[in-house]
Amino acid sequence: MKVLYNNQFKNRDEVVIDIEDRGYQFGDGIYEVMRVYNRNVFTLDEHLARFVRSAAELKIQLPYSVEDIKTMLLELVEQNHLEEGSIYVQITRGTSMRNHSFPAQSVSPVLIAYPLPKKNPSQEQQQGIKMKLVEDMRWLRCDIKSLNLLYNVMAKQEALDHQCYEALLHRNGTITEGSSTNFFAVKDGKLYTHPANNLILNGITRLEIRKLCEANDMTMIEKELTINGIESFDEAFITSTTLEIVPVTQIDDTVIGQGEPGEMTKRLQMLFQALI
Ligand SMILES: Cc1ncc(COP(=O)(O)O)c(C=O)c1O
Repeated sequence: MKVLYNNQFKNRDEVVIDIEDRGYQFGDGIYEVMRVYNRNVFTLDEHLARFVRSAAELKIQLPYSVEDIKTMLLELVEQNHLEEGSIYVQITRGTSMRNHSFPAQSVSPVLIAYPLPKKNPSQEQQQGIKMKLVEDMRWLRCDIKSLNLLYNVMAKQEALDHQCYEALLHRNGTITEGSSTNFFAVKDGKLYTHPANNLILNGITRLEIRKLCEANDMTMIEKELTINGIESFDEAFITSTTLEIVPVTQIDDTVIGQGEPGEMTKRLQMLFQALI
């Protein structure tokens, strides 16, 4: 496997991350996961725009221009002959003696990127999944795609421990999103999802769903849903770069709709397949 380390391509075993890398010690960094379909990086510009935004919010100076990062990521796909899969890219604030305060300006951020094999979520996409309600106890800047995923990890495991595929996070009864997915529900033919504010990550797939709705005469409303309303959902689904669109057929003990993927969900899945 070829790994991008700053602006150099190396073999995986040649890359050494310092014990004082701030990503390792503080989770002080940001990341993106991009899907590669047929050697093309899907929505690359959108992912890079979010990467730049996350860096700016955390005051991490990107050491390369967006154009250079883009060129290097495309080169990474080539060097790995990656037909289908994903690219993981992260940047940390750099390496310096352990201290909470930002390091000196002379310390450069550390960029790494490498390919991930294709996940195969086709069974979930066809049959749907169960979600477990979990209280959202993350920090209040979930809009930043930071390396701090501890609560996301805890929530996901809580779901798995209850034989559910994904956690459905709620803050005082208001549904926010999944542990690594955005959440949507259909009621009376309209699609609802949490507004893109500091309480969720504004998913790139979520934005593609919005475009698909606009282009195909479907209504998507950005409005909070509550856990009290779960019984009134006709359909539900989650989205992410690697899962695309996965129907939700049960949340805790509540069966959603007929307990199988709904019509609007299936239509969006078809439209999404056509996009990629
Ligand atoms: C918390 C969270 N929400 C939503 C998403 C979905 O975002 P995207 O569609 O950009 O993959 C992710 C992706 O990893 C995530 O971690």
